[in-house]
Amino acid sequence: MATARSEFRCLLGSEIICLASFDPHQTLLDFLRLEKGLTGTKEGCAEGDCGACTVLLGRLENSKIHYQPVNACIVPLGIIDSTQVLTVEHLADPEPHPVQQAMAQAHGSQCGFCTPGIVMSLAGLHYDCDAGHANPDHQTLSDTLAGNLCRCTGYGSIMSAAGTACVQPLPGQSRSLRSIAHRVLDEWDQDDTFLNMSGPLGSFAIPTDLETLWQTQRTYPDAQLIAGATDVGLWINKHHQRFESIINLSHVAELKRIEHTQNTLKIGATATVAQGLEQMTDLAPDLGPLLRRFGSAQVRAQATFGGNIANGSPIGDLAPVLIALGATLHLVSPDHQRSIALEDFFVDYGKQDLAPGEIVHTISIPDDAFTQLQCWKISKRFDQDISAVCGAFCLHVTGGTIISARVAFGGMASTPQRARHCEEALVGQNADCTSLEPAAAALKHDFAPITDMRASASYRTDVARGLLERCLRTLGGDPLELLYPVSKAPGLSAHD
Ligand SMILES: Cc1cc2nc3c(=O)[nH]c(=O)nc-3n(C[C@H](O)[C@H](O)[C@H](O)COP(=O)(O)OP(=O)(O)OC[C@H]3O[C@@H](n4cnc5c(N)ncnc54)[C@H](O)[C@@H]3O)c2cc1C
Ligand code: FES
Ligand code: FES
Repeated sequence: MATARSEFRCLLGSEIICLASFDPHQTLLDFLRLEKGLTGTKEGCAEGDCGACTVLLGRLENSKIHYQPVNACIVPLGIIDSTQVLTVEHLADPEPHPVQQAMAQAHGSQCGFCTPGIVMSLAGLHYDCDAGHANPDHQTLSDTLAGNLCRCTGYGSIMSAAGTACVQPLPGQSRSLRSIAHRVLDEWDQDDTFLNMSGPLGSFAIPTDLETLWQTQRTYPDAQLIAGATDVGLWINKHHQRFESIINLSHVAELKRIEHTQNTLKIGATATVAQGLEQMTDLAPDLGPLLRRFGSAQVRAQATFGGNIANGSPIGDLAPVLIALGATLHLVSPDHQRSIALEDFFVDYGKQDLAPGEIVHTISIPDDAFTQLQCWKISKRFDQDISAVCGAFCLHVTGGTIISARVAFGGMASTPQRARHCEEALVGQNADCTSLEPAAAALKHDFAPITDMRASASYRTDVARGLLERCLRTLGGDPLELLYPVSKAPGLSAHD
């Protein structure tokens, strides 16, 4: 078992930072700006939406440093323990970074408020391209920039700068920062300690295995659990919630695993959406486009599967898809473990079947379901928006007849739910549009959606029917036009 370490540590560029205590509610952004005077990182929305606060987090993964952009405004400082943080101040030394040069040459910067965040997102992509993990093609550039809002310059010039910069060699400064991170983070990784800091403003712990987690929970029985903190970060920032203690689950080894064995894909609760995206896109081609629209690259780097399910949101994107896939949820506490069908976890609005002391451990998915999956997210804005309706369909078809059906929706009820009347109406019918009317009539008995800021009840009802039609038409070989157009033209994207 790892031993407790009371001192927080991280690398800020090449500087080792050690703190005997800190406010567990302090954000990384406030730490950078207010305590370190690194004011290049800006605060725009303070809720993870605009990307002005984007910094790079370097983590050790499979003995290599992997940089990901995150929104510093919703990252509690404690989360970055034992990682490296790079801000815009770390890029230019002595020459401007290739991304900065390209942005200036292509006139990609005007107000300057959002530019540092854009530069950091692209500097992250530059590292990925250098490591051979990405190509700066149109889709990749578009996905990279989806979490950085610029309202003045237009994305054409930014995209053009990005394309130019990301094929340049990595500058010496970037290489040097990466090798420092490699040396220091590797050393820290070997020492087998975990952060357990207790100070006048509260405590913050990051257990590294389940045994240590239970022990830490016994010390802080009322601790707020977090994983990526993309939800809890907002409660702290926007609702000013305060907790005596916070326990971060994201380093617990047993919760991080993604395994594909015996026809089952098992996703650990703290696997991030970015990691799941990588694993699941190959298995289910429809899932890739949906997951790429989950938040932004910054959000996906932090947000976890377990957090998305445990928060019980009726408009979370993962639950409808996982319910349609027939996922099982595995829950653990210090003295027991149990498994339930995911749909049974969502009891009512804000009420989940989670006993005190229990946590989400793993989600398992039968992999034969993936090939049948069709799913769509409908939101007001294409990028970086929460669903108005999310529909997912797994219809098993033999000889043109629907043999079994699992249909689930988010945004149609107080919890993510299966459309059981619709499923019954589909089974035994033709896998084409001739089955639409009876199935759509049954669907009306499944849900009575509400009107809210995202959509009206009648819009939601119409969209659900539209997605059902889309699914049946696809099965019948008469597909509708793509719902998520992928622009092939350089410089033209959903941002323009
Ligand atoms: C800008 C922005 C965009 C977003 N876009 C989307 C989107 O497109 N689609 C979408 O679905 N969501 C979206 N979200 C919401 C959020 O990112 C997700 O719900 C995310 O998956 C939550 O995971 P987390 O690890 O960050 O949760 P946290 O904030 O760490 O935790 C959320 C809740 O889950 C609990 N919890 C976490 N892990 C566990 C566990 N293993 N066991 C028990 N309880 C646990 C915590 O105690 C807390 O109550 C967005 C959020 C932001 C800020
Ligand atoms: S300030 Fe807008 S995402 Fe952080
Ligand atoms: S550069 Fe700031 S809004 Fe475009």
